Formats: sequence, C-alpha cells, structure tokens
Amino acid sequence: MSVSAAVAARTSTRAFLPLPVETAIIASVLERAARAPSGGNLQPWHLYVLNGESMARFRAVMDQRLAENPAGETPEYAVYPPDLKDPYRSRRYAVGEAMYALLGIGRDNKMGRLQWLQNNDRFFGAPAAVFCFTDRIMGPPQWSDLGMMLQTAMLLFAEQGLATCAQEAWCRWPRTVSGFVGAPAELMLFCGLAIGHADTAAPVNRLRTERAAAHEFITVV
Ligand SMILES: Cc1cc2nc3c(=O)[nH]c(=O)nc-3n(C[C@H](O)[C@H](O)[C@H](O)COP(=O)(O)O)c2cc1C
Repeated sequence: MSVSAAVAARTSTRAFLPLPVETAIIASVLERAARAPSGGNLQPWHLYVLNGESMARFRAVMDQRLAENPAGETPEYAVYPPDLKDPYRSRRYAVGEAMYALLGIGRDNKMGRLQWLQNNDRFFGAPAAVFCFTDRIMGPPQWSDLGMMLQTAMLLFAEQGLATCAQEAWCRWPRTVSGFVGAPAELMLFCGLAIGHADTAAPVNRLRTERAAAHEFITVV
C-alpha cells in the first residue's frame, strides 16, 4: 500500500467487528510508528496496549464506572478552547451533525446523543486499543509529537487492513485509565486509540468528513 493510499484509507471508525487482533501485529506497528519524528528526538510518547484478556478486564471496570458515574471524572485538559470560534466551531458542528444523521439520532434527541457518546467509553466495540500518555512536564511542541506518532501508527494499521479511531474522549477517565494500566504519576493521559476490524455494514462508518478547500489553509508566499 502506498503512503497516499494509506492516508486515503484511514478514517475514524466507530463500529468494530468482534474479531481479534494479534498483539504481535499491534506491537510491530507501534515499534515501527516510533520512526515518527519528534522535536529533539525526545520521543515523548508512552503507550499502553489493551488486547484480549486485558481489554475484557478493562471493559468490566468501565461498566462499573459508567454505572456509578456516567458523567466521568474531572478531565486533566480541555479538549477544545472555550468559546471555539469559526471556522473551527462550524467544522466541529458539521462533523457531529453528519454523524448523527447517519445514526438517525435527531437534534432534539439529547438522550440518544448522550447514549451514543458513551460508545467512546467502550472503544466503539474495538477488541484492542492503545492509551497514549506523555510526561506532565511536556508542552505543546511535545504534544504535537504525540500526533505524529499516532498518525504514523494509524497509517501503519491501515496498511495491515486494521481500522482505528483516535479518542480524546478518554480525557474524561484519567484516573481510571492511569490506575488500570499502572501508569506512573508523572505521566498524563492524552488519548485512546481504538483498533480493530471495521464493521463496514454499520451506518456510522459511512461517515466521510469534509476538508476545507486548499486555499483556505495554504498560503503560498
Ligand atoms: C487526537 C484525536 C482525538 C479524537 N477524539 C475523538 C473522540 O474522542 N471520539 C470520536 O468519535 N472521534 C474522535 N476523533 C476523530 C475525529 O472526529 C476525526 O478525526 C475527524 O472528524 C476527521 O474525520 P476522519 O478521521 O474520519 O478523517 C479524534 C481525532 C483525533 C486526531
């Protein structure tokens, strides 16, 4: 698969088949993804893999947490700036509306939307996942390095025929996730990455998101 084909093939998958993924494949992808660049070669990523038995145990913990506290824990960072301005605000709104239209969950169905969002807390049914942490001392440049690593991994997973969804939604469960994986206190959770085989029959996976026209974000000086 060419890099261009992998870039085109990768989309955020939000429904997975109950088919297992070999831990060896995940480990191989992550090892190769570490060729991603990082400023000063700091390689500020710390990755924890859940698969098979550990995923089953984690799901049981999450079922309990969601029953006790469906709103989640206090996040350690804000996913979006407060008062998101345009064009970002409209883009965020558009992707949400496109997704709920495919799911047949109307704008007035607040409960339906809330319930759907809880699929995030179950990795959308993915059999495997990665949690991405970084050291708390790191700042915006190193957080951007995490993105380099994650996109490189997502492209390599696409090359393996595996689907993914990066999930900042896990910022609502920092204590549960850190405690479960045994991350040391100096590490802070950035996001999760659901991994598995896409359920191609699921309407939500038909979502193809828009991108701004090139002239809106490229300035040739
Ligand atoms: C770092 C990161 C975190 C994300 N978090 C979530 C999430 O919590 N839940 C979700 O459904 N999608 C999440 N997404 C997926 C984005 O919504 C998606 O990338 C965007 O709408 C573009 O669609 P595409 O990935 O299909 O091209 C995340 C993406 C990134 C890069």
